[in-house]
Parts: sequence; structure tokens; C-alpha cells
Amino acid sequence: MAGPCLVIFFALLLLSSIAEASQCSVKGLPLIRNISELPQDNYGRGGLSHITIAGSVMHGMKEVELWLQTFAPGSATPIHRHSCEEVFVVLKGSGTLYLATNSHEKHPGKPQEFKIYSNSTFHIPVNDAHQVWNTNEHEDLQILVVISRPPVKVFIYEDWFMPHTAAKLKFPYYWDEQCFQVPQKDEL
Ligand SMILES: *[C@@H]1O[C@H](CO)[C@@H](O)[C@H](O)[C@H]1NC(C)=O
Ligand SMILES: *[C@@H]1O[C@H](CO)[C@@H](O)[C@H](O)[C@H]1NC(C)=O
Repeated sequence: MAGPCLVIFFALLLLSSIAEASQCSVKGLPLIRNISELPQDNYGRGGLSHITIAGSVMHGMKEVELWLQTFAPGSATPIHRHSCEEVFVVLKGSGTLYLATNSHEKHPGKPQEFKIYSNSTFHIPVNDAHQVWNTNEHEDLQILVVISRPPVKVFIYEDWFMPHTAAKLKFPYYWDEQCFQVPQKDEL
């Protein structure tokens, strides 16, 4: 009796790994895709919806990566930095950008606060510690994010006075984890 059960078990295991790997399309990315049908997840962060629209680890992009993120009221990114360029477009809602530009100090220090709003755009200077926060109690904040030099290597701070040297590297980042193991085929 154990035989058929084992076969079914391994068939299910195979099917689930195929389903998982299908999100990781390093080759053969369709030209046009419907964003509403792309996988989205909160990656363990309450109030977040993240979609990697075009990714390095997920889709084989080489120079840029594009995310669509929605933050429920009161939710935020961690305080973090990365050595890539990053440009934001606010599609909906409003919030606050916290940015510490004095990165030559030992720690980020008290950040400057900037209001961000629908149809605004902002960019983060390379390696400056920052945090994006939906400080609007009534509306979701939706942003389109472009980064250079993917996959992103994020250093996370517990607070603004944590020394730069103590910031914790998270790599691969949460949304890159699932596809990171899939071997990338170099087409060159
Ligand atoms: C995109 O996907 C959504 C959700 O599945 C669907 O409602 C919509 O019709 C799609 N748009 C097109 C143009 O296919
Ligand atoms: C955003 O700004 C552009 C350029 O002025 C304008 O055409 C567009 O209608 C604006 N969109 C919204 C949602 O305000």
C-alpha cells in the first residue's frame, strides 16, 4: 500500500516545485504582461504588497529592476541603505520620506523629513540611509520603484543611530530569495 502513496507524494512534490519555479523566468519572459496577473506578496511584512515587475534574480534583468509596492496606512520600509541608484514615482496616496544624507558620519543620525504625494517623484542618493512611510491614515501609498545594479544588497538599521558598520546585510533580499537558487543562464 505504501507504493502508490509514495508515488503520489513525489508527484505532488514535483508539481509544487514546478509551480514555484514558474515565478522564476530567467529566460523566456513574455514581452507584454498584465500586472494584475503577476505574483504579489507581503514577504512577511504587514501592510505591504510587493510585485517585482521586472527583476534580476526573477527575470534575468541585467541593469535595472522595477517594483510596484503598496503600503497600507501606517506601514513602512525598514531603515536601510544600498549602493545602487533608486528612483520612485508615487502613483497613489501620500507619505513621508526619511533621509539621512550625512552618511560620512558613523551612523545615519536624525533624518530629514520630506512629504511625498501622488504624482511626485524622488530619488535616493547612493548609500544614503532612508525609510519610506505611509503616514496617511486614510489611504494606501502606491509607488513604482526603479533600482540600478540588481540584485539589491540591502543593509538594514534598527534605528537611525545604529553605526553603519552594525547595519545588517540582507542578501538575497526577501523577494529575491525564492528564485535565488535557480541557476541563471548567461546568454552572452
Ligand atoms: C488583466 O488581468 C485582470 C485580472 O486577471 C483582468 O481582470 C483584466 O481583464 C486583464 N486585462 C487584460 C487587458 O487582459
Ligand atoms: C501627473 O502629472 C502629469 C504631468 O503633469 C499629468 O499629465 C497627469 O495627469 C498627472 N497625474 C495625476 C494622477 O495627477
